[in-house]
Amino acid sequence: MSRVLVIGDTHFPAVLDGYLPFVKAVKREYKCDTIVHIGDVVDHHCISFHNKHPEHPGAMAEYQQAMECIKEWKAAFPKMRVMEGNHDKRVRRLAGDAGIPDFYIRTYNEIYKTNWEWLTSCSIDGVSYYHGEGGNGLYPAYNSAKAMGVSIVAGHHHSCAGINWQVSPMHAIFGMNVGCGVDRRHLAMKYGEDNLKKPVISCGVVLNGKPYLEMMDI
Ligand SMILES: [Fe+2]
Repeated sequence: MSRVLVIGDTHFPAVLDGYLPFVKAVKREYKCDTIVHIGDVVDHHCISFHNKHPEHPGAMAEYQQAMECIKEWKAAFPKMRVMEGNHDKRVRRLAGDAGIPDFYIRTYNEIYKTNWEWLTSCSIDGVSYYHGEGGNGLYPAYNSAKAMGVSIVAGHHHSCAGINWQVSPMHAIFGMNVGCGVDRRHLAMKYGEDNLKKPVISCGVVLNGKPYLEMMDI
């Protein structure tokens, strides 16, 4: 059985200062031996279907800033599984819309000089991990868990963090939303400045198939 640290959406370079030391401390506290990043590693604010902020310095500057973050994170977590997020996929999606097959696009590890395992989902000790697209309602991971009939850990919904259980005579399954690690004051996050619900800064841990949520003090 594994001791899994689950890192929330980081949206490099729009990651919150202090999120890396926070998740490292959680890893130490729970003695985690397996690392899962729940996706949206990078933001790709400039490579998007949406309008970019007029003060944003541009796609290459964004890449260089994201690389500064990635250097620190890969030093801390040289091995981890990344659940591809919708923001990670933006380059491929736009290329696909232009009729360019994936074959012609560089891999994430080539682009970011990482040695991480990039996956759409994975299962560890019977618990399913994926980025979280398609989840809905106040408790997206829980709703997905009920729909799928398995325990689910997800990110994607930055303002959702929590654990809900469904227990029947036949089984006990949970849904955990792990929150995220984004800086809501960053230009790339400006779209949410009028939302009443703000990002919850937290990460998850799953020990022997049982979930825990840790909130960062901010
Ligand atoms: Fe995200």
